[in-house]
Amino acid sequence: MSFDLPYRFRRLRRNSNIRAMVREHSISVDDLILPIFVEENIGQPVAISSMPGVFRYPESDLAEVVQQAYSKGIKAVILFGVSHCKDAVGSDTWSDEGLMVRCIKAAKLAQPKMMVISDNCFCEYTDHGHCGVISDDGHVDNDKTLLNLQQQSLAAARAGVDMLAPSGMMDGMIAAMREALDDNGFSHLPIMSYSTKFASAFYGPFRDAVDSNFKGDRNAYQMDAANGREAVAESLQDELEGADILMVKPGMAYLDVLYRIRQDSSLPLAVYHVSGEYAMVKAAAAAQVIDEKAVVMESMMAFKRAGADLIITYYAEDIAGWLTEG
Ligand code: PBG
Repeated sequence: MSFDLPYRFRRLRRNSNIRAMVREHSISVDDLILPIFVEENIGQPVAISSMPGVFRYPESDLAEVVQQAYSKGIKAVILFGVSHCKDAVGSDTWSDEGLMVRCIKAAKLAQPKMMVISDNCFCEYTDHGHCGVISDDGHVDNDKTLLNLQQQSLAAARAGVDMLAPSGMMDGMIAAMREALDDNGFSHLPIMSYSTKFASAFYGPFRDAVDSNFKGDRNAYQMDAANGREAVAESLQDELEGADILMVKPGMAYLDVLYRIRQDSSLPLAVYHVSGEYAMVKAAAAAQVIDEKAVVMESMMAFKRAGADLIITYYAEDIAGWLTEG
C-alpha cells in the first residue's frame, strides 16, 4: 500500500550521489583562515592546555608553521602576537621593530603567496590588557585609541601585510584605518572588520592562549549578547566606513546574527569560530561523547548555511586534511 502524499522529500536522499547533487552548501579549503599565536622570547612551542593541538610558537618557528599550513592548502593566516614589551598604550604594535611587524615579515618571507592578515588590536600589547588607551575615567578612550590604530595599521602595511583585521570594537575604527591607509599609499589593502563582536565568555581560552593578564571585562566596547538589531547596525556602519569584509564573532551561538547581516549586506562575511567553541568540541571529543570530525564539519556547514563566506577556525588544518581525505 502507499499513501497519496503531496511530496516525498526522501526521494532526493536515497543515496550519497543524489544527496551530493542537491546539497546547497559546501566547505572548501579556500574558506578557511588559520589563527597563529606567536610569543616573543620563548625557545619552544608552548601548548595551550585548554586548546589541545594549539600552541604559542616562538618567532623562529613561524616560518615553518606558515609553510606547513600552506602545504595543506590553507591560503590565509591571521597572526596574534604575545608581547613581552607591554606598556600602557601598546606602542610595540606600531614600532617598525615590534613583534607585530616582525611576525608579518617572517610570515610573508616564509611563503609569499600566503595571505597574511594582522589582528589589529592592542590587548596583547598593553600592560592592563584592554584593547586601547585608558583615559582618566578608567574607560578605553575611543578616539585616542583610533590615532594609535592608524599608526599600527601603517606599520603593518609597511611590513607587507595583505589584509588588516581590527578587532577592538572602537567606533570609527574602519574610517580611521581607511583614511590612514589611503593617505599613505596603501589604498589597495583590504580591511576585514571584526564588525560585530560580542563581549563573550567563549573567548575564555584565548585569554589563556595569549597569556593575558587581563582582569575585568570588555562590556564597555564589545557588544551585548542580548542585542540583535544593534548587531546588524554595527556591521552596516563598518560597511559604510569602507570595510571590505564583515565578521561575526563568536560563531555557533550567533548564527541568527550572521543570517541577518547576510540579508542586509552584499559584502563577503566571515565568522570567527572562537577559542571556547574549539575547546568545547575538544573536551567533548576527549570525553568520547561526540564524534569530533562530524561535529566540526556540521558546525562549518551551519556557518555556511547561515551566510558565512569565510571561517576563521583553529580547526583549519584539520578541516583541510579531512577535505582531502574526502
Ligand atoms: C583581541 C581578540 C580576542 C579574540 C580575537 N582577538 C579576545 C578578546 O576580545 O577578548 C578572541 C579569539 C578567540 O577567542 O578565539 N581583541
